[in-house]
Amino acid sequence: MRNFTTVNDIGPLAEALEKARYVKQNPFADQALGHNKTLLMVFFNSSLRTRLSTQKAGLNLGMNVIVLDINQGAWKLETERGVIMDGDKSEHILEAIPVMGSYCDVIGVRSFARFESKADDYNEVILNQFIKYSGRPVFSMEAATRHPLQSFADLITIEEYKKTSRPKVVMTWAPHPKALPQAVPNSFAEWMNAADCDFVITHPEGYELDPKFVGGARVEYDQDKALEGADFVYAKNWAAYADPNYGKVINTDRSWTVTAEKMALTNNAYFMHCLPVRRNMIVSDDVIESPRSLVIPEAANRVVSAQTVLKEILLSL
Ligand code: CP
Repeated sequence: MRNFTTVNDIGPLAEALEKARYVKQNPFADQALGHNKTLLMVFFNSSLRTRLSTQKAGLNLGMNVIVLDINQGAWKLETERGVIMDGDKSEHILEAIPVMGSYCDVIGVRSFARFESKADDYNEVILNQFIKYSGRPVFSMEAATRHPLQSFADLITIEEYKKTSRPKVVMTWAPHPKALPQAVPNSFAEWMNAADCDFVITHPEGYELDPKFVGGARVEYDQDKALEGADFVYAKNWAAYADPNYGKVINTDRSWTVTAEKMALTNNAYFMHCLPVRRNMIVSDDVIESPRSLVIPEAANRVVSAQTVLKEILLSL
């Protein structure tokens, strides 16, 4: 694997999950692979889990790790070609990317949707420029449309906790005061559609995701109906995708918050969320603190997903 940006890059999921199990049981077995190799992690946006787990994954593999926060200490970057750079941006991304590539062997990039242009977001203009101009393998640490390291960790977690071979997994929209990208729900849908599960998406009208990501999943507008019999409840907020509301909050209906009453409709489901989460908007205190909440083991599995992916990239160098 050279680049990792979608579920398609990881190969057959059963094999990927087997590799992840090995990495989890033997976290320091491949230290020689990363010897004298440098991982550069570039953040255009904030992070807690991705920053720490990916750094830990690189260290477990014996790599040197450099972290660059573009918005804290680096020059402000121009990303559009053809712009007369007479404003506050001192450097163009077309020089910055190959320079970054010259200092490392592998690059991770976090670059969220900016909600300025749907075409730019859904064409992944920042991530794709790293792939085109860095000269290095590139992996996504959450891009505009997908968060594959998160989805891989989510799948690993479901595999660890599922009690039936084909569990019912329900991804539910939940309210949030700010406009959040569709990367996590898009990606989760993509991975669940590729996995062996009964996958249902529920959200209020107007929050339909890009059909490319929904795929063959069942969409149910009645949240209570969707939750019936669920084995896993995956909560997430996202802003509207459909025009003319792309990137907007069109509804903050608190009846969609995942509460104990909602969880009572399920098959004693586990609760999942990628974090960070706004309590008592997305999920009530009692649900996230309950023994059925998987948010901490799910976050811990971010090391496993990152290390499995990094290992495959190192093997391809
Ligand atoms: N889930 C996730 O990616 O968390 P961070 O934004 O803190 O990295």
